[in-house]
Formats: sequence, structure tokens, C-alpha cells
Amino acid sequence: MTQDELKALVGQAALQYVVAGEIVGVGTGSTVNKFIDALASMRDSIRGAVSSSNASTQRLQALGIPVFDSNEVDELSVYIDGADEIDANGYMVKGGGAALTREKIVAAQSRRFVCIADESKLVEVLGRFPLPVEVIPMAVRRLKRQFAALGGVASLRLKNGQPVVTDNGQHLLDVTGLSISEPLRFESEVNQWPGVVTVGVFAHQKAAVCLLGTGGGVRTISY
Ligand code: 5RP
Repeated sequence: MTQDELKALVGQAALQYVVAGEIVGVGTGSTVNKFIDALASMRDSIRGAVSSSNASTQRLQALGIPVFDSNEVDELSVYIDGADEIDANGYMVKGGGAALTREKIVAAQSRRFVCIADESKLVEVLGRFPLPVEVIPMAVRRLKRQFAALGGVASLRLKNGQPVVTDNGQHLLDVTGLSISEPLRFESEVNQWPGVVTVGVFAHQKAAVCLLGTGGGVRTISY
């Protein structure tokens, strides 16, 4: 199966976690796009979605799924999202699609994080994928030095030669060369650095379940 087919497989499988009559938390990315397309079949049995990005909001609305502001909802029973990496504890690296801050906010208001990913995302230790960090632009130079002190190389994410601007109006660093052996501690520490909006380690908001797309079908991993 191609990677795209694996993404479609787990996107479809995630429908079993969507609770009829409720609002579902929806992440961002190419795997989640497959989930959103599948969710259209449940359009009439759910109230709607809370979305983690403008891109997902547009896709949901184009399929006739109402999108609620996160402030209109106290708690969601489930949040469905992809990952750039996931380890054996359900700790993840996210933010390849630039939506990490809103993803963490919606994940935090959800009782259960269901991660949907193809098997290429499974790692032993987080850090192979360049770690996304949403930052306040004026802190970029100093934050690069802070990551260098940890052995990482932080680069400003660019598109067409210009800094990528997130849905929150901020910039992104991508950090290579890290081996994140203590994700909980790492997330807490980096999130305290002045100028960091959100680090892309999702350890405090880890997955409860991962639906992993493999050549042999969907593997369900609970943490
Ligand atoms: C977006 C994310 C995505 O979940 C992550 O980048 C995985 O994306 P894809 O499903 O396209 O591989 O964190 O900010």
C-alpha cells in the first residue's frame, strides 16, 4: 500500500471513535484530511467539530460540517490528529503542518487523543523529524542559541524565501540534531523559554490510542 492509502485507511478507521450527537476535535495535516473526508459520511449524526487550523476549518465547512470556536465548548470526548513522530509511550512530535499550538489547545480540551498515522511515523526516540517550535519573531536569534546549547540546530521555516506565518501570526523554528529521551521534561523546559509559544513535543497531551496504518492493516495501540 502507498503512504497515501495508509493515511486513508487510518482516516476511515478513526470514525469508530467519533461519538454520535457530539462535537469532535479535528487536527491538521494530510492524514487528518482523509479523516475529514471520511467524517462527511457522519455529517448528519454529529453536532460538528472544533478545528485546529484555518485549513481544516475550510475543509470541514466545504463538506457541510459545522465548525465551533473552541471557546464555545467546555470539553470534547475525542480529538483526532496525525503526528510527525510517535514513540512507544504515545509521546509525539507534531507541527510539520504549522498548526501545533492550536492542536495542543484542542488536544488539551479533549478527554482522549486518537493519533492517526502511517507506520513511517513510529520511532524509538523522538527527534529524527526536525522539531517544530512556534515562536515570537523577536526571540528567534536568542532561541537559536538556546537550542544550540542543547546540541540542536534551529532554522527559521521559510516558504518562497519568507518566514512561514502561522494561523496565530507567529513564526516557526525547525530544530534538527536533538534526541528527546525525556519528552515530559523537555516539553516543560522548552515551553518556559521566553518567546516560545509552543514546542512541538506532545508529551503532556500524549496520545491515548494510535491507529497505525501498516501493510497488514490498521494496528491499534493503546497507551
Ligand atoms: C500539523 C501536524 C500534523 O499532524 C503532522 O505534521 C502530520 O502531518 P501529516 O498527516 O500530513 O503527515 O502536526 O501541524
